[in-house]
This record gives sequence, C-alpha cells and structure tokens, in this order.
Amino acid sequence: MQSASPIVPDAPGAPATSPAPAEPTSLVQRLRRFLPYIQHVRRYWIVVVIATVIGAATEPAAPALLKPLLDRGFGASAFNPWLVPVALLLLFAIRGSAGFIADIALAKIANEAMFMLRRALFGRLLDARLDLFRSESASSLSNSIVHEVQNAIIMLVNALTGLVKDGLALVGLLVYLLYINWRLTLIVGFLGPAVAWIMRTASRRLHKLAKSSQAATVELAYAVEENVLANRMVRLHGAESAQAGRFEKLSVALRRLAMKSSVAQAAITPVMHMLAAAALSMVIVIALWQADRGMTVGTFASFVAALLMLIAPVKRLSEATGPITRALAVLERSFDLVEHTPAERGGSHDPGRARGHIEFDDVTVRYPGGSGTALDRMNLEIAPGETIALVGPSGSGKTTLANLLPRFLEPASGAVRLDGYELKDWRLSALRRQIAMVSQDVVMFNDSLAANVALGADIDRERVARALEAANLGDLVASLPQGMDSWVGHNATALSGGQRQRLAIARALYKDAPVLILDEATSALDNESERLVQEALRRLMAGRTSLIIAHRLSTIEHADRVAVLDRGSLLELGTQAELIAQGGMYARLHALGGSGGPDL
Ligand SMILES: Nc1ncnc2c1ncn2[C@@H]1O[C@H](COP(=O)(O)OP(=O)(O)OP(=O)(O)O)[C@@H](O)[C@H]1O
Ligand SMILES: [Mg+2]
Repeated sequence: MQSASPIVPDAPGAPATSPAPAEPTSLVQRLRRFLPYIQHVRRYWIVVVIATVIGAATEPAAPALLKPLLDRGFGASAFNPWLVPVALLLLFAIRGSAGFIADIALAKIANEAMFMLRRALFGRLLDARLDLFRSESASSLSNSIVHEVQNAIIMLVNALTGLVKDGLALVGLLVYLLYINWRLTLIVGFLGPAVAWIMRTASRRLHKLAKSSQAATVELAYAVEENVLANRMVRLHGAESAQAGRFEKLSVALRRLAMKSSVAQAAITPVMHMLAAAALSMVIVIALWQADRGMTVGTFASFVAALLMLIAPVKRLSEATGPITRALAVLERSFDLVEHTPAERGGSHDPGRARGHIEFDDVTVRYPGGSGTALDRMNLEIAPGETIALVGPSGSGKTTLANLLPRFLEPASGAVRLDGYELKDWRLSALRRQIAMVSQDVVMFNDSLAANVALGADIDRERVARALEAANLGDLVASLPQGMDSWVGHNATALSGGQRQRLAIARALYKDAPVLILDEATSALDNESERLVQEALRRLMAGRTSLIIAHRLSTIEHADRVAVLDRGSLLELGTQAELIAQGGMYARLHALGGSGGPDL
C-alpha cells in the first residue's frame, strides 16, 4: 500500500516513512500543520474574517456615540432624542449579526477540522504498521482519536477567534483613542509594558501549573482505567485500600495544583484593576488640566469609556497563548500519529487463490524490547494441503511463528515464502485473504453474530448458518430470540469463553481461506464440544495448509507432521510415529499423556 492513505489530506509531511522533522518552534509554524485539515473550508474563513472585522469596527462606535450625546444631547441645540435608540439598536444589530455569523462559520471550521483529523487518524489506525500497537495502548489511542482531538480543536478555535476578535477590537479602540486625544493616549500607553510584564509572568506560571496538572490528570485516568479493567482481581486480592491510596495521592496532588493555578489566575484581575485605576487617575488629572484647552465633557467621557473597554480585550489577549499552546501540544501528538506513523507496506503479487506452500527460511524474530530471540534461524517447509502441528513449551515461539504469516510480525532476518513468493512481495490484502486464523485471544465486535462471523465480507446468511452449525453453535443460535442477528455485546461478553472460541472458529470456516492457523483454537472447550468442533475443523482442514498449535495431544492427532519447538528453535520434525520412535521430547510428552490426556 502506498504511504499516504487517500483519506489523509495532502499533509505536508508526505511520505509516511519520513523521519520526524526537527521540532517546529514558532507558533505560526506550529499552526501551519493545521492547515491541511481546514484548507477546504477556506470560504468559511473569509466569512469569519469579514464578520469579525465588522464586529470589531462597532467596538469604538459605542464610545464614539457617547461624545455627541454628552456634548450636544443635553444642550439647547439638542438633536432628536429618537436618534439615540435608533443608533443604539442599529449598532447592536450589526454587532450581533456579525458575531452570530462568525460563530457559526467557526463552528463549521472546527467541526470540519475535527472530522478530517479524526478520519485521518482512524485511517492511519487501520493501515499503520503494527509496531504502533506495541508502543501505544488501546486507551491512549482511543482517547486521542475521540476526546483529545475534540477538546483541543474546540480550545484552539475558540482561542484563535478570541485572538482575532480582541486584536481587532484593540486596534479599533486604540485608533479611536489616538484620534480623539493622541497625547493622552501615548501617556497612558506607557503603562503597556507593565501590563505585558505582569501578564507574561502570570501566564508562565499558569502554563507550568497546567502542564503538571495535565500529567497528574492522565495518571489519575490510568488509575481509574486499570481499576475498571481489573475490578475482579482487585477485589479478589483485597487490593482496594492500596488502590484507594494510590488514587488519593494523585487526587491530592491534582487538588493542590488546581488551587495554585486558581490563586495565580485570581491574582491577575486585582492587579490589572490597580493598573487600570492608575491609568484612569492619570487620565482624569491630565484631562482636568487640559479642560481649558478644548477638552469637553463628551470627549472626556468618550475617552474614558474607550479606555475602560480596552481592559477586557487586553486581558483576554494576554491569556490567549496559553490555550493555543496547550491545544497545539495535544494536536501535535495527533499530527505526529498521522504523519510519522509508517503505513504497512506490501508488494504487488496477487495470484488470486494461493496453493498454500509455506517456507520459513532461516527466520529469526526479535521483539523490540524483548530479551533474546523469539525465533532463532527457524527452517520449516510446509506442503500445500498439509496439516502440521506445532508443539512445544510455553514461550517456545509457536504463536510468533504463526504471526509471521499474515505479517503481523516481520522477521529480523531470513525469509518467509508463500507459494514461492516472499511475503513482503505479496499485496497485503491478497496475502491476508489467503489466511484464516483462530488465535489465542479471540476478539469480537459489538455487532450481530452474523456480522462477526462474516467480518469484512458480505453476509451470506446461508453460509453463516452453516459455519455456525459446523462450529457447534447451532444450538446457541437456535436458543436466541433473534438467532444469528443477536447482538453479542462489547467483545462478545454476552458469550461464554467456549462460545466465543467457537464463534472465532465459525469466522475462520466462513472465510474459506487456503491457509488455516489454529492457535489454541479449542483450548476453552470441554472434551465433548472439542470432539464436535474437531470434526468441523477436520472437514475445514481438508485441502488446506493448516498450522495447528495445541497443548492437548488429542487436538493434533490427525496432523500429518509434528514440529516440536523449544526456545525459538526447531527441535524435532516428523510424523508422530517417527517422533515417537526417535524417543525425543515429543515421545516423552506423548508417553505422559494419551489422547485427551494431560497437556503437552
Ligand atoms: N509482544 C511481545 N513482546 C516481547 N516479547 C514477546 C512478545 N510476544 C512474545 N514474546 C516473547 O517471545 C517468545 C515466544 O512467544 P510466543 O508467544 O511465540 O510463545 P508460544 O510458544 O506461543 O507460547 P504459548 O504456548 O504460551 O502460547 C516468548 O519468550 C515471549 O516472551
Ligand atoms: Mg502462543
């Protein structure tokens, strides 16, 4: 599959395998990464800009109206009093409509960005190289696709619009102030640096607190999540008080951080008010001095009003970078996930249906972070249609060997071939079409029984019914009021362990693939059900290349050959009779237990 998936918008980080570029630093540069997700709604941006400019222009209009009202409204030369409500209503109508339109357009942009980013993230989740799932937990991925994207985009868009709105209001008001009395404005302007310094100090502190707070919140969420997942074990082991203690410690830390940040936040307002009071006193004193030089009541009131109106946008502006950097920090994680997570790559070989000739050629597998090799120069050839059993102690590498075939794992060295073609030359979808797998851990979707059996393919009800019947689930389906259309619940918790396993077998039966991998496929079944399912599996295995991993001897008695693995190496290989005659590990295990006897 080519690197950039079609649903990932033409992101600047194009090839999926490109190394992570140097950390972009400036805010603008960081915001630029956001562009691919909102470019297509450009016209909404234009609407936002126009509406915001109009809104900002009305900002100095209120104090500007105050001037004629005070200067001429009450004198002898008074204008028609009806002009006041008309002007006021008109002003607020313009302002209100502009705000409304800007908000709607912004909501559109935010939701569109959310949709695009989520789609890109989920698309990457579906085609990402499987290392992703080893480095990221399920909850952290689901959290970043579902919640973080939403919160961060809403926060970012709100902060950005605030920035634009307040910035424009600020400019409008300043221009008006300079227009009516530039000297006074400049004098008051000297307070600017003081305001900036206070704001900077406060926002630095707030940012630091917010970061610690976020880390503590994540910890707290982990604690809750783990306790939900492990609720039974916690009770069984009496670990409640230890867990409560852990939660308590984190909550206390969080409470302390929240209080600190509240104090810092609350201190800003009184300090700002003091500054405003200082500015105001200065203005009043100077204005009184200038009273004889053309400073009218109207000019003065209008000036003060505009000055006071400055405070709110200045305050908000000084706080705007906080949410923006915070939101960007969260979104950057998502961008990285989309742009720097390599997609799976396959070749182009696609012969239709494979014959099922499998070769492991000197294959070595190492897990990242794992100690030693999981498979060590493994050589094994499996003929088309052959049934081969893999046995060996726990941890000997059986599952690892099986996972190589659908390329859930890549060998560190050596090659795996199917029908003579190396797996990496196969088109991924073609390769995976050839393999049906019942793995150790059965995973089901919260969907109907039929949809779980057909998984990904069209539902042919008759074939689904046959697969369910063959997997010995016929009775269960018959007992359910909605039959195969019954919902199975999240990960099929509504089914028993054995029923889940049989459902997985039905899924493999339905897929009808030339290569079949059964990894402990019948371990959760009792002897009676296993016998019944065995028959179905034997019918299924006919004509297919089958790898059966089992601890129970009875499961593999019909295998053509047995491969005994030990610590990642092939120890013995041959028919059961040969291996028993050889008197090695398999013979010993066989001697211990007859068919259906103790586990291997
Ligand atoms: N995701 C992983 N990360 C690191 N090491 C792993 C991982 N999966 C397996 N291993 C290691 O690889 C080795 C082989 O594991 P594998 O799952 O193939 O064993 P197995 O033969 O299937 O065992 P079992 O019979 O218990 O299922 C083990 O030593 C195991 O610790
Ligand atoms: Mg295993």
